[in-house]
Amino acid sequence: MAPTIRAAQLAAILLVFLACSAPVLALNNVVTQWNVRYQGVVRSLSIANQQSSKYFAELHLAQYYAVLLAAPSGSNASTSENVAVNASAAAAYAGHYILSATFPFQQPNFDALLKSQVGGLSSADRTAAHDLGVKVATKIIAARVNDGSADWYDFTPSPANGTIGKYQFTPNQTNALYPQLQNTRPFLVDPSRFNTTNGGPLTVPSDTYNTQLAEVRTLGSSTSSNRSATQTETAYFWADLAGTGAITSHWYNITAAVLPNSTDVLTTAKVYAAIGVAIYDASIAGWKQKYGVLFWRPITAIRQGDGVNTPDATWSPLLSTPNHPEYPSGHSVTSGAAAGILINHFGSDNTTFTIGSEYTSANVTSLSPRSYTKFTDTATEIGLSRIYGGLHFRKAIEDGQALGLAVASAVWASFPSSYSVDGVSIVTGVPLKN
Ligand SMILES: *[C@@H]1O[C@H](CO)[C@@H](O)[C@H](O)[C@H]1NC(C)=O
Ligand SMILES: *[C@@H]1O[C@H](CO)[C@@H](O)[C@H](O)[C@H]1NC(C)=O
Ligand SMILES: *[C@@H]1O[C@H](CO)[C@@H](O)[C@H](O)[C@H]1NC(C)=O
Ligand SMILES: *[C@@H]1O[C@H](CO)[C@@H](O)[C@H](O)[C@H]1NC(C)=O
Ligand SMILES: *[C@@H]1O[C@H](CO)[C@@H](O)[C@H](O)[C@H]1NC(C)=O
Ligand SMILES: *[C@@H]1O[C@H](CO)[C@@H](O)[C@H](O)[C@H]1NC(C)=O
Ligand SMILES: *[C@@H]1O[C@H](CO)[C@@H](O)[C@H](O)[C@H]1NC(C)=O
Ligand SMILES: *[C@@H]1O[C@H](CO)[C@@H](O)[C@H](O)[C@H]1NC(C)=O
Ligand SMILES: *[C@@H]1O[C@H](CO)[C@@H](O)[C@H](O)[C@H]1NC(C)=O
Ligand SMILES: *[C@@H]1O[C@H](CO)[C@@H](O)[C@H](O)[C@H]1NC(C)=O
Repeated sequence: MAPTIRAAQLAAILLVFLACSAPVLALNNVVTQWNVRYQGVVRSLSIANQQSSKYFAELHLAQYYAVLLAAPSGSNASTSENVAVNASAAAAYAGHYILSATFPFQQPNFDALLKSQVGGLSSADRTAAHDLGVKVATKIIAARVNDGSADWYDFTPSPANGTIGKYQFTPNQTNALYPQLQNTRPFLVDPSRFNTTNGGPLTVPSDTYNTQLAEVRTLGSSTSSNRSATQTETAYFWADLAGTGAITSHWYNITAAVLPNSTDVLTTAKVYAAIGVAIYDASIAGWKQKYGVLFWRPITAIRQGDGVNTPDATWSPLLSTPNHPEYPSGHSVTSGAAAGILINHFGSDNTTFTIGSEYTSANVTSLSPRSYTKFTDTATEIGLSRIYGGLHFRKAIEDGQALGLAVASAVWASFPSSYSVDGVSIVTGVPLKN
């Protein structure tokens, strides 16, 4: 792809869009509202993407199961609010409980949203919705106890100036992000199925590696004069740094933009849950590869050298290097996973949407929204943004996206369409009592 030409086309599309369309009202229901509320938690606590996706998955799985259980079997989901348990209200209680139990210090924030959603219901309706939502949420939380995510993993990188090609701490790095993720229990998909999907990183040195090293060295340098202004903006647009909702939130907003505003709560909850599950499960698979192959970052490769490619001890990337091994790219794994769920849901890669960015800095107060026509184009641009940022070799973004897409298809194929609590599959719409 030729990013410069494409950007010019996109700019033209955007101008037309801004000139002639009324404001687009995104999908707005109890699922999207809890999603955006949790995005705020991710932003305020700077929760790393691979960790935040676990709670996106729990939040929306609980909501999905609550709606499933509130809807009588075979009923029209969009009319299920008329049955004994109000599905939207049950999803609201489920979301509130998951987040309150996980982030209790933000309880007032969650209470306020729940009140805005169920405050007007009768006491009987609230009790029924509460009982179902809380029951499901506690089951989801219980299912994740002892999932390995809290265990200590004793990780030591290669020493400075260590083995060629091997991951070592980059300048100023003092710890590695979430090594235990590689041993964490997934929600749905066994990550070892995908461990060797993509063959691993390139041999150092080799012709293809040398070419890819030169690419990131030229385009990704903090002082690059070869990177176009559009490429620089692309790196920032998708940087999704600490203090933002991160790349997973970015994909959720894309999801809200592409789902029709008439989408019922059950479908919304399913797609949102599948995205959270796919991103988390794909991240586990990606982390198995990251901490299995332990490939070095461009800053290390360029500063240290390898006997063939001349070192440059002064080289620095445009964006600061994340504190985990290079291969595969986390942004690409996440983007492949999210794109894969959307492609499976819509049955097509074709789409049209416009999306903004939360990126700001001293010099950039806001970046213009961008428009896209394919989910995979979006994921590919996000991958390239990591080359422009000086963080990845091309192999890591291509293989990362492929891994995410593969995990998403496996998640979608096995995504549950029913749920039972205590061996009772609730299809009657009758509130659960313990
Ligand atoms: C829903 O979207 C349609 C266009 O797809 C638009 O005409 C309508 O105003 C929107 N309605 C709401 C309530 O957002
Ligand atoms: C479900 O209900 C909605 C709204 O009443 C209606 O538009 C739709 O056709 C129904 N779908 C089915 C499969 O009955
Ligand atoms: C169900 O609850 C939602 C809010 O949670 C509310 O907007 C809706 O009106 C309720 N539906 C019925 C039929 O009471
Ligand atoms: C790594 O090697 C470079 C070049 O030989 C040298 O300048 C630097 O001090 C070394 N760093 C460490 C931590 O050994
Ligand atoms: C490391 O930290 C020092 C001091 O804050 C800073 O000057 C330098 O740019 C940092 N290096 C990198 C590669 O981030
Ligand atoms: C970078 O751009 C300069 C001129 O702006 C050019 O001379 C040089 O060949 C370019 N480098 C690469 C690797 O494309
Ligand atoms: C997603 O949309 C919400 C609601 O408009 C907004 O507050 C948030 O900043 C957006 N998140 C990202 C990552 O762009
Ligand atoms: C995954 O693959 C890498 C590279 O082949 C290997 O080092 C690692 O042990 C594998 N992990 C598992 C859990 O199979
Ligand atoms: C998707 O768009 C391409 C053009 O970009 C078109 O050739 C193709 O038929 C479309 N596919 C679907 C399923 O709409
Ligand atoms: C912001 O702009 C100033 C002045 O042009 C420049 O010195 C500084 O390096 C820029 N900072 C970043 C992060 O680009």
